[in-house]
Parts: sequence; structure tokens; C-alpha cells
Amino acid sequence: MKGAKIVGWGSGLPKKVVTNFDLEKLFETSDDWIFQRTGIKERRVVDPDLGENAVSLGAEAALKAIESSSKYNDKQINVEDIDLIICATATGDYLFPSTACLIQAKIGAVNATAFDLSAACSGFIFALNSAYNYIKVGQYKNVLVVGVDIMSRFTDWSDRRTAILFGDGAGACLLTQCDDDAFKSFFIKSKGDVECSLNVPNTGGKYPLSQEQITEKQAMVYMDGQAVYQFAVKAVPEALENACAQAGVEPQDIDWFIPHQANMRIIQSAAKRFKIPLEKFICNIDHFGNTSAASIPIAMDEALALGTIKFNPSKRQKLALVGFGAGLTWGASVLEF
Ligand code: COA
Repeated sequence: MKGAKIVGWGSGLPKKVVTNFDLEKLFETSDDWIFQRTGIKERRVVDPDLGENAVSLGAEAALKAIESSSKYNDKQINVEDIDLIICATATGDYLFPSTACLIQAKIGAVNATAFDLSAACSGFIFALNSAYNYIKVGQYKNVLVVGVDIMSRFTDWSDRRTAILFGDGAGACLLTQCDDDAFKSFFIKSKGDVECSLNVPNTGGKYPLSQEQITEKQAMVYMDGQAVYQFAVKAVPEALENACAQAGVEPQDIDWFIPHQANMRIIQSAAKRFKIPLEKFICNIDHFGNTSAASIPIAMDEALALGTIKFNPSKRQKLALVGFGAGLTWGASVLEF
């Protein structure tokens, strides 16, 4: 059995910024309300006129992750070396082909196999787990994991309960086979949510969309905010506790937590529960909102770019990644980087 490590990070973000003040013009809300309840000040939203979409942002993140392998690996990995691309998304540009296949074509990863994985906001952790296992059994050597979501496509811009939360973006990381395994544990869970507290009720799949359903905005995000909040404040600690226990470490031994950026209060509640200073949690929700499957790699990529997390090949740091989302799905991973 081989091991794996992450040797590249990248992100792709839309140019257009939508602030809370912009939202004040769309519905009855305030910058203060949104910031107090969520920690969000602004988010990015794709502009189709600029050619921004899931594939363009995903490809940008993927190329940057590959390029950064010159910084984080002893040898540069090239796009032709990629043998698998897993794209975590619930909002791809097409129902088919997969976003992963289209990213493959756009970046010229001619030797890669590519497929999408759907686990909503937990998608990045689920895809990372799959990527790791493919390397572990020896089937692939260089695997690109992309998380991308264009939530603005399914946002009802007149619904103040949901429109405040989400943003668009892509993040990616590159895994390569190695002898000194950097991954210490994975914990991923699902619990089919019959009440469907977070969903897009109808995209024309189960039943063709009628004009009435379009008018009723049934192809938009529905969320029972309080139910999702209650789920999240339990799921995050459960995932972290299990991932740490499997890795044989205490949460206090973790150098950096990179949580899914859904709500600052959910992150604060996890920090409080483990009595860990909030400074150890990488947070950028204030300027990107909840970018779903992209939020963890975007946060990690930004932390490296800002120098908050410093890469030191001779002294790997312990990271705990944790996510949760629709499905319901949740999971965490402890790894060294
Ligand atoms: N601006 C102003 N008021 C708002 C508002 C907004 N954007 N959105 C809701 N309100 C109002 C409600 O209408 C309600 O008013 P009422 O009491 O007169 O009916 C009041 O604020 C409280 O609403 P509630 O839904 O109970 O607020 P909340 O404290 O639960 O906060 C969320 C709402 C969405 C911020 C919170 O539930 C949350 O973050 N949930 C988790 C969501 C999440 O993480 N989703 C992604 C998972 S991957």
C-alpha cells in the first residue's frame, strides 16, 4: 500500500463582488444583521459575460494547484502527469458531461480519467477521501481534486433567508503518491435527509418544470436555516472528534483547522467546544461567503498565500479539514502538510 501527500493548492474566484449593502437593495435586510448572524460581509458571483462558470473557475484553480507543485513538492508535476481528476460539485455547467471532464479538456490533462462527485458542501472532503484511496491502492499516482460550486445559479435573489449565505468559487488540490503517507485519517458520513432541510426542490429532473413551478421558484435553494444550524453544530465536532481519534491525536495537537465556511457562529461553536483559540481556525467567510464544495481549498490556498500557514517541508504541520452539507453529509480529515 502506497501513501499520498498534497503538493499543490489553487483557487479560482469570480471578479464580481456582491456586498451586504448590495443585498440591502434587493430585500429587507441589513449589513449588520447578516454580519452578526453569519460573519459574512461580501461574496463573489460569476458574471457569464466575462465567461465565468464552473469549468472556467475549476480549471483556473486546477492549473494553479498543478503549478504550485514546484513550491510544495521536490519536483514539479505537469498537467500531462495528472491521471485522475475528481470534481466535487452540485452545480456544474451541464447535467452531463461532468464538470471534471470539461476541466480535463480545458487544462489539457490528456492522460487523466475524470468524473464528478456529489456531496454538496461536504464534496471536497468526500472527493479527497476518494482521491487518497485511489492512490493508496496504486491505481493512480497524481490526482487532482477540484471543488467548485456556482450557487448563484440556484439562488433566489428575493429570499433573504438564503441569498445572504452563498457565493461562487472553485478550489483545488493536487495529491501525489509517496512513501511517507501524509494522511492520518478520514471520517465521512451521510444521513439521508427525508425532511430535506437543504435542497433545490426541482430542477426538472423528477418532474418536468411547469411555468407555475418556475414562478414559484422551485428550482431555487430551499433551506430550513435553524434545522441546518442544529445539524452543523453537532456534525462538525463529531467529525473532528472521530478524525482526530482515528489519527491518534487530540484536537489540541492540530496546528490549523480548515473548516467549511458556512457560518462564523458554527465555527466559533466548534472552537469553544474543543477549547481551541479561534485563531487556529482559518476563516475567510467574511469576503467569500459559503462557496459550498470550494470553501475548504479556497481557505487553505488563501492562508498559504497570506503566509498565515507557512509551508515547511522539514516540519510538516497537522491540519484538520472539516465539512458538512446537504444530503445530509459531513466529514473530516487529519493530514500533514
Ligand atoms: N435579514 C434580516 N432578517 C432576516 C434575514 C435577513 N437576511 N433572514 C431572516 N431574517 C429574519 C426572519 O424572517 C426571522 O424573523 P421573524 O422572527 O420575524 O420571523 C428572524 O430574522 C430570525 O430568523 P431565523 O431564520 O430564525 O434566523 P437565524 O438566527 O436562524 O439565522 C441563518 C438564519 C440562515 C443565518 C442561520 O439559521 C444559519 O446560518 N443556518 C445554517 C445555514 C447553513 O449553514 N447553511 C449551509 C449549510 S452547508
